[in-house]
Amino acid sequence: MSATPSTLDVETAVKDRYSGAAKAQEESLCCPTKYDAKLLEVIPKEVIERDYGCGDPSAHLRPGETVLDLGSGSGKICFIASQVVGPQGRVIGVDMNDDMLGLARRSAPEVAQRTGYSNVTFQKGRIQDLALDVDELDRYLRQRPVSSAEDVARLDAEVARLRAEKPLIPSDSVDVVVSNCVLNLVDSKHKRQLFSEIFRVLRRGGRAVISDIVSDEDVPQHLQRDPELWSGCISGAFREDLFLEAFEEAGFYGVTLAERGEDPWRTVEGIEFRSVTVIAYKGKEGPCIDQKHAVVYRGPFREAVDDDGHVLRRGVRTAVCEKTFRIFSQEPYRSHVELISPRALVPLEEAPPFPCSKGALRRDPRETKGADYRLTTEAAPATCSPEGDKGGGCC
Ligand SMILES: C[S@@+](CC[C@H](N)C(=O)[O-])C[C@H]1O[C@@H](n2cnc3c(N)ncnc32)[C@H](O)[C@@H]1O
Repeated sequence: MSATPSTLDVETAVKDRYSGAAKAQEESLCCPTKYDAKLLEVIPKEVIERDYGCGDPSAHLRPGETVLDLGSGSGKICFIASQVVGPQGRVIGVDMNDDMLGLARRSAPEVAQRTGYSNVTFQKGRIQDLALDVDELDRYLRQRPVSSAEDVARLDAEVARLRAEKPLIPSDSVDVVVSNCVLNLVDSKHKRQLFSEIFRVLRRGGRAVISDIVSDEDVPQHLQRDPELWSGCISGAFREDLFLEAFEEAGFYGVTLAERGEDPWRTVEGIEFRSVTVIAYKGKEGPCIDQKHAVVYRGPFREAVDDDGHVLRRGVRTAVCEKTFRIFSQEPYRSHVELISPRALVPLEEAPPFPCSKGALRRDPRETKGADYRLTTEAAPATCSPEGDKGGGCC
């Protein structure tokens, strides 16, 4: 990730562009995207017109979830998400632009009145710094404007206090972080911090579902210096492979390219810019212990490697730690593996550490079943019939 040239003030370019785009639709920012038409019915026309998304991360949400939308803009994805998660769920939109926040905040009561419940809030913040509540900071600055070096020192202390005592989004508090066409807008020098913030706010077992614009080649410096192209979701785009890598680097697992636009949204100097949606999971950190679990990778590839470096050979009963077993029993792995639990679980306090870093280890069936396992069974009667198997057994 190279730093954006200092001649471009990314934040000002983005703020100016989206203040205008909040007041009147800006067609050049619109990327044709399909949403569930039924979920759009309760959303004010003004919000839908100021749709500057490039995908639909809300299609990957479930009832009851707490969702954080980064760069919520007019609020459209939040209002769709509100209906998917339902009254038991909660949606928080974060944006740094007052005009966008104004539009989203004044639309919220109208949507709540139509759905019959209110579960969406909009907060002011920078998505690369989700601990800092910028509304709170604005309030402080109105009361104590900065006009001396002492004021700057007091301001620094207040910022540190707000982050520690009243974080905008607390750590481990969100089930799903979504975002629609925003990560590319963040200054390159803050992009690494942006991914760590997404990771921080997710609870263990949570996931990020991010739609964004990516490029097929590196974006050259002269395009990165262009404020129109940056704020227009072009110049700040990740190269597509580096986008997925950024999730890996932040500690996510199971990083999946869920959607990839076949046709580019725009092509600039031969570089293609297209929409993708990536899903990534949090929860592989922590100790590995051996309770005699195993998995069998179904294929179709001869070999697969997960984000901890476990090599799974097709069809081979492979030893895994209890944590990996749990991870493999859920999305996105569940349909790719057979899960084999030990016949008698080794109690946690007796279980030794598992050498996850050692690569593929075969699990002898005797380890799973127990060395003394001597059971012999007969084929169950009455499962065979001339018309074929009706009893669920084998003949
Ligand atoms: C392309 S629009 C997308 C808006 C919305 N997600 C949608 O689907 O219509 C980008 C939005 O992200 C906001 N934004 C850009 N960079 C941001 C940052 N660093 N922190 C917070 N908001 C940001 C802008 O103010 C704008 O509302």
